[in-house]
Amino acid sequence: MQSFTTLATICLLAIGALARPHPQSDSSSPSWGYCLTKSEAQQIATNYGVLIANYSTALADAALSPNFTDYSESVNTLINQCSQGAAALQLPLLAPTFTNRTTFEIGQGQQEPINFNQLNIWHSCDTVIIRWETTNTTRLNTTRPVIGMISMETIAAPAGNLYPYYIDTVYSEFDAGAWLENLQDAGICSTNTTLKA
Ligand SMILES: *[C@@H]1O[C@H](CO)[C@@H](O)[C@H](O)[C@H]1NC(C)=O
Ligand SMILES: *[C@@H]1O[C@H](CO)[C@@H](O)[C@H](O)[C@H]1NC(C)=O
Ligand SMILES: *[C@@H]1O[C@H](CO)[C@@H](O)[C@H](O)[C@H]1NC(C)=O
Ligand SMILES: *[C@@H]1O[C@H](CO)[C@@H](O)[C@H](O)[C@H]1NC(C)=O
Ligand SMILES: *[C@@H]1O[C@H](CO)[C@@H](O)[C@H](O)[C@H]1NC(C)=O
Ligand SMILES: *[C@@H]1O[C@H](CO)[C@@H](O)[C@H](O)[C@H]1NC(C)=O
Repeated sequence: MQSFTTLATICLLAIGALARPHPQSDSSSPSWGYCLTKSEAQQIATNYGVLIANYSTALADAALSPNFTDYSESVNTLINQCSQGAAALQLPLLAPTFTNRTTFEIGQGQQEPINFNQLNIWHSCDTVIIRWETTNTTRLNTTRPVIGMISMETIAAPAGNLYPYYIDTVYSEFDAGAWLENLQDAGICSTNTTLKA
């Protein structure tokens, strides 16, 4: 019995050591000083889904860290092939899409509302992953469904923030081919992108 207790104590000490914040933690390697509950993970997923489906700056400010970074080759391709603003923005395919919350707010604020169905959710202590679908990226009745995966790394938000955790880093990929075809079918972007330059 005593040896079991000793073993258990050693195990708990080991877990305690792992649970302490990493000494070199920063925004790119989140501290392990917390472990998301199921409902906290769902709140994080819901917030990001609403930002995609029905963007508002108030929610972005409460849900995303100031240094929020989004990596998405899918979005970069859509921006390059179908930028809808006045400036024909070109992003290197592998560059981060947004490097802070302000650039996300400017970019995502231009997205027309779409529906957003969460299909799956998984989470670790600091990361939430969802699989999702949208079926109305255009109003055409021939609109192709688009399915994607989003991984959201979190950090603790400052005291007083509406939500206890910020989404700090997102990796988001989806069927950019289907989305682009939908936009082209709807006449929202040219089928010959070089003509737009
Ligand atoms: C979108 O958000 C606005 C508030 O920003 C809200 O009034 C509206 O009901 C929302 N629409 C949907 C479809 O959720
Ligand atoms: C945000 O990024 C800037 C520039 O890299 C850095 O100086 C600042 O400390 C970061 N802020 C946080 C809260 O990580
Ligand atoms: C956000 O990033 C953009 C583009 O790199 C930069 O111009 C801007 O100063 C940044 N804003 C903040 C608040 O860091
Ligand atoms: C998609 O459906 C949502 C409601 O589910 C609606 O708010 C949005 O305007 C629709 N978007 C398009 C492009 O039809
Ligand atoms: C889709 O819309 C087109 C043009 O408005 C119409 O001719 C067609 O019947 C519609 N198809 C379906 C399946 O609703
Ligand atoms: C697309 O645009 C380029 C550059 O203007 C032009 O050379 C090419 O012929 C166009 N292709 C089609 C299919 O229109």
